[in-house]
Amino acid sequence: MRILVIGSGGREHALVWKISQSPRLNKLFCAPGNAGTMGIAKNVEIGDSDIKGLADFATQEKIDLTVVGPELPLTLGIVDEFEERGLEIFGPRKSTAELEGSKVFAKQFMERNKIPTAMSRIAESPEEAKEILNTGEFLYPLVIKADGLAAGKGAIICEDLDKAKEVVNLIMVKKKFGKAGRKVLVEEFLRGEEMSFIVLSDGNNVVPLVTTMDHKAAFEGDKGPNTGGMGAISPSPYIDDELFSEITESIVLPTVTRMFEEGRKYKGVLYVGLMLTEEGPKVLEYNCRFGDPETQPQMLRMESDLVDVLLSIVREEVSEQEIKWSPKASACVILASGGYPLEHEKGKRIEGLEETSKIPGITLFHAGTKYQEETYYTNGGRVLGVCASEESLSETLDRIYNAIPGISFDGMFYRRDIGSVKEDKR
Ligand code: AMP
Ligand code: GLY
Repeated sequence: MRILVIGSGGREHALVWKISQSPRLNKLFCAPGNAGTMGIAKNVEIGDSDIKGLADFATQEKIDLTVVGPELPLTLGIVDEFEERGLEIFGPRKSTAELEGSKVFAKQFMERNKIPTAMSRIAESPEEAKEILNTGEFLYPLVIKADGLAAGKGAIICEDLDKAKEVVNLIMVKKKFGKAGRKVLVEEFLRGEEMSFIVLSDGNNVVPLVTTMDHKAAFEGDKGPNTGGMGAISPSPYIDDELFSEITESIVLPTVTRMFEEGRKYKGVLYVGLMLTEEGPKVLEYNCRFGDPETQPQMLRMESDLVDVLLSIVREEVSEQEIKWSPKASACVILASGGYPLEHEKGKRIEGLEETSKIPGITLFHAGTKYQEETYYTNGGRVLGVCASEESLSETLDRIYNAIPGISFDGMFYRRDIGSVKEDKR
């Protein structure tokens, strides 16, 4: 088969790496890719939002299967465009990807279908938002969320009324997130442990992926601003069989079934961000794509052929397909550029990359990297994911943390506590 992966992060490198092991593969492309995908796929210079360009490329190159990594092309309707051209593609259509693309849509969907989530109100103008705040019906802290995609930065926790009004101005008047801020949600603040739950769905049936725990805060001890994720381990230390069933029954299956009934068949990855509250798990957000960095430890543990798995979703035959997983642990620690997730510089020379990639048991997944004149340079906030999979989590983490000092670039930082669980939360 001729396969195209869309995206350029660590998630896409992990998908490309796993697909490259498939006996079904003849030729692999990645658009636009990074310095890591370059070694195993042919990188193609087409951006992930150039839907027409990507569809033209897939047509010309007779691509048999396209796999979409990031959310942006999904919300722009890449799946609809490919399907209209008779091209097989893995991911949900535009109307289904609304579940991630519009927090207002997702909230209304959950409310009308009684899927547990935080209480909230929708505001369509700054005046309306301030009216809601002035009623005093929400305790502080509360959360204000921009409706549309805001690169993970659109949910802001507000400690008091002044901050909440300032955030309304920032999002709706100053348009900090552009069109994403035309509407906002004012939402109840949920307390508890945060976790994610990721499944594949073919519209009718779901198959869970192995569980993961992601560390979102930039610095050790969960300090600092939220990032896309500074590292992840698998399996998650929080999910036991009982919780697994509860989340599946009360959230995942109703989501897929109700979406189907509403004419929005859910095909692809359903990534549910949850808060484990005293009243049970509640949905914080839906994503309609693989996690980053969760995919990296998941791909290290997947024993099935990923191409078979993806095709069973696209062709709606997933009940026949059980995914096989290694019983080992796995982990990914992100090496990031100084300043990330805020302003950070790019173009720093990366040392020690090739030597480290040769260490037995270490898999390096590239994210923001670029290769020029035989040298690797940084090209983004999250630069590399240092990954391993061993019998136990502690052996896995030892291997990773022993390897990391071999890599360096100006401003590099990483969390030294990936995989740690607070004692009282075990
Ligand atoms: P979201 O983009 O909706 O996932 O929000 C980003 C982050 O904000 C989440 O990962 C949580 O850490 C936090 N968050 C969002 N909504 C809430 C809420 N209702 N209560 C507490 N924290 C929240
Ligand atoms: N690691 C968080 C995400 O992929 O959304």
